[in-house]
Amino acid sequence: MIVRRAGPDDAEGLTELGEAVGAEPEGWLVTTNGWRNVSDERRYLRAIRRYPNAAVFVADDGGNIVGRLSVARDQHPASRHVADLGIMVAASHRRQGVGTALLHAAVEWARKADVNKLELHVFPHNTGAIKLYGKFGFVQEGYRRAHYRRGDEFTDAILMAYEL
Ligand SMILES: CC(C)(COP(=O)(O)OP(=O)(O)OC[C@H]1O[C@@H](n2cnc3c(N)ncnc32)[C@H](O)[C@@H]1OP(=O)(O)O)[C@@H](O)C(=O)NCCC(=O)NCCS
Repeated sequence: MIVRRAGPDDAEGLTELGEAVGAEPEGWLVTTNGWRNVSDERRYLRAIRRYPNAAVFVADDGGNIVGRLSVARDQHPASRHVADLGIMVAASHRRQGVGTALLHAAVEWARKADVNKLELHVFPHNTGAIKLYGKFGFVQEGYRRAHYRRGDEFTDAILMAYEL
C-alpha cells in the first residue's frame, strides 16, 4: 500500500470508493445523495493537479484505491493558514494504518503549502474516526449543533483541529 497524490486516472476508483463508503448504513459522510460521477471527479482531479491550495491523496493497494484524503485551504485572506480535510478508507482496509498514513500525507502537504492548521468536522456517532483523529493529535475545538443537513435531518458535528 502506498500513499500518493491522486491523478485524473484515479477518478473511477475514487468514485467507487466514495459510493461504497457513502452507502454504509452508519452514515459517516455528509453527502447523502450519492457521490459525484466519474467525469466530474476526473475534472476536479485535473483542475487541482497543479493548484497549490488543494490536494487529493489516495491509498493505492496494488492498483486498487482503498483510501482517500482531500484537503483544501481556506480561501479567506485571514485564514489562509487553515485547511479543511475529509478522509475515507475502504471497509476492507480499515484498522491497518491507512487512515493514519493519509493524515501524515496531509501534514506533509500542509508544511509545503504554508498551512499550519488542519481542521475537520466529524459526526458525534463516528467514534472510530474521533479516536483516529485524537490519537493522531487533533483536538476538539467546538461542537456545532444542527450544522449539517442530511436528507430531512439536521446533524450535529464536532470540529477538530491539528496545529502543525
Ligand atoms: C475513520 C477511518 C478513516 C479510519 O481509518 P483507518 O485506516 O481504519 O485508521 P487507522 O488504521 O490508521 O487507525 C488508527 C487508530 O485509530 C483508532 N481507530 C480507527 N478506527 C477505529 C474504530 N473503528 N474503532 C476504534 N478505534 C479506531 C485506533 O486507535 C487505530 O489504531 P489501532 O487499529 O492500532 O487500534 C475509517 O474507519 C473510515 O473511512 N470510516 C468511514 C468513513 C469515515 O468515517 N470518514 C471520516 C469522516 S469524518
